[in-house]
Amino acid sequence: MTVYVLNGPNLNLLGAREPEIYGRATLEDIKNALEAHAARAGTVIEFRQSNHEGVLVDWVQEAGAKAKGLIINPGAYTHTSIALHDALKAVSTPKIELHLSNVHAREAFRRSSMVSPAVTAVICGLGAAGYLTALDALLRLIDKKPFP
Ligand code: DQA
Repeated sequence: MTVYVLNGPNLNLLGAREPEIYGRATLEDIKNALEAHAARAGTVIEFRQSNHEGVLVDWVQEAGAKAKGLIINPGAYTHTSIALHDALKAVSTPKIELHLSNVHAREAFRRSSMVSPAVTAVICGLGAAGYLTALDALLRLIDKKPFP
């Protein structure tokens, strides 16, 4: 079973879009690094991006049916989308909300998330490396690994 990694609006512009906030890595760079990281961990990822809310909702539903876990960077839909909240609520596998930037240290509107109440955990502020951290954390959740 795969892990779904879903990316929302404008994340296709990574590398060129506000690099001082989001870094210089492109989404393709992140996908390649994450695929290699997943392979080392013995798992496979399904990595996707869409600028469309309904498409993301469809993919969250698909992940709920097909994946062992889900990582989602919902982009700006984080702050607005009840539809993504509802879709994520219906997913029973571990699920992580991820942001490249520290959304709490930016504009006030980024401090509220429709998605956070519907996921297992939230990771933000680690840049592109956050994707690798999120996968490690998700696999721990999936395997129900005890601490430490
Ligand atoms: C983002 C943070 C969101 O507030 C913003 O709308 C994005 C990217 C991040 O990864 O830091 O598009 O999700």
